[in-house]
Amino acid sequence: MTSEGDGVLRTQVAIIGAGPAGLLLSHLLGNAGVESVVVESRSQEYVAGRIRAGILEQSTVDLLRSAGLADRLSREGDQHRGIHLQWPHERHHLDFVDLTGRSVWVYGQTEVQKDLVAARTAAGQQVHYEVADTALHDLETDHPSVTFTDAEGRPRRVAADVVVGCDGSFGPSRAAVPDAVRRTWDRTYPYSWLGILADVAPSTDELIYAWHPDGFAMHSMRSSSVSRLYLQVPNGTDVATWSDDRIWDALATRLGHGQDGWELTPGPVTEKSVLPMRSYVQTPMRHGRLFLAGDAAHTVPPTGAKGLNLAVADVGLLAPALIDLLRKDDPRLADAYSETALRRVWRCTHFSWWMTTMLHTSGDPFDEQLQLSQLRWVTSSQAGATGLAENYAGLPIGF
Ligand code: FAD
Ligand code: DHB
Repeated sequence: MTSEGDGVLRTQVAIIGAGPAGLLLSHLLGNAGVESVVVESRSQEYVAGRIRAGILEQSTVDLLRSAGLADRLSREGDQHRGIHLQWPHERHHLDFVDLTGRSVWVYGQTEVQKDLVAARTAAGQQVHYEVADTALHDLETDHPSVTFTDAEGRPRRVAADVVVGCDGSFGPSRAAVPDAVRRTWDRTYPYSWLGILADVAPSTDELIYAWHPDGFAMHSMRSSSVSRLYLQVPNGTDVATWSDDRIWDALATRLGHGQDGWELTPGPVTEKSVLPMRSYVQTPMRHGRLFLAGDAAHTVPPTGAKGLNLAVADVGLLAPALIDLLRKDDPRLADAYSETALRRVWRCTHFSWWMTTMLHTSGDPFDEQLQLSQLRWVTSSQAGATGLAENYAGLPIGF
């Protein structure tokens, strides 16, 4: 039981970060009777309002359903059979259901986060928002802890059996693994995304990923009345240099407005931001009594929509491992967690890198010809199309 004495909170699992990984983990643990305390540096409203991912793969939806978290997703999520891939004068539809029997759902990370907050609130979960000075201690012992300053400025300690770092790319958990133990891989890309949210019905039934000599563009959506669109821009781009008109003109050119009767309908822009792109992996994902899940252990560039799905998949492996460890004193799944999770992490890291480098222009004419050749192969060969579909719609958890 979570209890408090001497200013110390005692629980089974201390979770750092109340993003999708942290709250989903607390939910899966709670469903199995394992107690946790979550600490989060931002406010609940800030975390729920961040515009991020928009596509859920099949195994994410299956996991949310089995955890009792998919009522609204089933009503409001939009199931898609596949995507459109295009380059100038050619657009091809890849049907993931025909190719692999699996599909994807349009349902924003903001909505997943709201559903998780509602479920954890209903279950009486302790989440400490707006904390500062989060620090991890005694991870190589069987009495690890997390200290922080709470929203009222009081120093606090959570004493736990296990600490889980779900604190994203900038949290303290990944650096709590000693340098002598951890290994990292890192790649930054020479371009960023300018993303907009617009109050206009999508001009497409399913997502469009477009290669264009001016740079990549993508048409996604959040609902029947809200569109989400992206443009490749150089690193360091100041969003203020892109007026709404300039954005819609570039999107129209790159997405092929006017070709074969297709039209892009512009509308009021409600959000605009520039996102850098990076691949990062840190191993191992477990050290002593510390486990890492989601962006705390790895970052992928957004092309291919893997970040959120990978965070969910990590937690889908970690929750049963911690339940066995803490309820049955059986360490086998916990001991295997890092190696098992990393198989999928590297698959998604490769897929995200491949989609990114296939679709973004680098200015190199040789690269351009290779990209177009790859796109023709992926859209004309059953084997090529199936490979993309299998990775995009997502491999089963435990792959
Ligand atoms: P996060 O969502 O990052 O959550 C980590 C939490 O830890 C945060 O709430 C943070 O405030 C908290 N935290 C950090 N430091 C501390 C601390 N010291 N103490 C306590 N708490 C702390 N993925 C896609 O698939 N498609 C997309 O289109 C897409 N767009 C993105 C756009 C942006 C701007 C970003 C940053 C990411 C995007 N991603 C996208 C990736 C996706 O959103 C992430 O992979 C996903 O949020 C990972 O979930 P997480 O819970 O592991 O980490
Ligand atoms: C979205 C983001 C992606 O990175 C992607 O590949 C597909 C969709 C989105 O924000 O909707």
